Amino acid sequence: MRIDVLGAGIVGLTVADELVRRGHAVTVVDPRPAGGASYAAAGMLSPAAEVWHGEEEILRLGLASLALWPALAGRLGVPLRRSGTLLVGYDAGDLQQVERQVALLARHGHLAEPLSRAGVRSAEPTLARAAGGALLSCEASIDPRAVCAALLERADVTAAPRGDAEATVVATGASLPAPWSGLVSGVRGEILRLRTDDPPRRTVRGWVGGEAVYLVPRGDDRVVLGATSEAHAAPPIVTAGGVLRLLAAARTLWPALDRAELVECTARDRPATVDGLPLVGPSGVDGVVLAAGHYRHGVLLAPLTAQLVADHLETGHVDPVVDPRRITEGAR
Ligand code: GLY
Repeated sequence: MRIDVLGAGIVGLTVADELVRRGHAVTVVDPRPAGGASYAAAGMLSPAAEVWHGEEEILRLGLASLALWPALAGRLGVPLRRSGTLLVGYDAGDLQQVERQVALLARHGHLAEPLSRAGVRSAEPTLARAAGGALLSCEASIDPRAVCAALLERADVTAAPRGDAEATVVATGASLPAPWSGLVSGVRGEILRLRTDDPPRRTVRGWVGGEAVYLVPRGDDRVVLGATSEAHAAPPIVTAGGVLRLLAAARTLWPALDRAELVECTARDRPATVDGLPLVGPSGVDGVVLAAGHYRHGVLLAPLTAQLVADHLETGHVDPVVDPRRITEGAR
């Protein structure tokens, strides 16, 4: 098939790559490739650390997609860090948040290793004394900018559609075209990039006085510190208050932050859906498939989305959990 993929973020590019691998002729359409949420993303491949109450299907989808990442990263020549995620509660209230997360995971058969105060210290000596935590050893991380750069090298990218496509995949993140624009809304994420000589060993997802914060080390001197989360209608900007909150929470957990170089502050919108789950499948318009609404999970879910979109185009199969009709037809 001749297929246009609208959107050269990590989802659109991974979909395009999968379709090309299956023998289709693909054009990716984006006037600003890899400039949206993928540009901001830390690259946590953390299905368990990032699952929230009410969005438990993310765990199943995320684990399935995580299993696809080693092969994708290997083909692209981008390092995949498989050092796990450390959940950390700074004070007693924060530790309850960790315990709630561990209990939620256990209800879905996913076991985390609880860690005492001393256990957290020995897992991550760079961290301040924290009340306790838990280790999710199967999780990983990857640099989304490196992934997008590698995918862009392989893709045929244009600024505007050529008009001869037999099928179109819409993967334009938080800015869906009409008539789908109302299916997602922007949730701003502000995120910082640092250089340090004392990075954590693995992804740290912490709660500090109720404030959620994460640190994602790249394996060299780079660390990504995220992220704020705020629903809003205006274009995403980096706010002084957002940076202040992130730095304050991270510094309490990771004192080496004081000596780190602050390299970059970025804000982008996450594309959120009403139920927190993506929209992958029929759009309601013949020949148009949605690969949208990935909210906090675009990097993690990119390879699974690519398979689902390609399967749908070739066989009509749709995973009911991500089927857009649960929302579009429900609304009607
Ligand atoms: N998945 C990380 C974030 O959305 O901030």
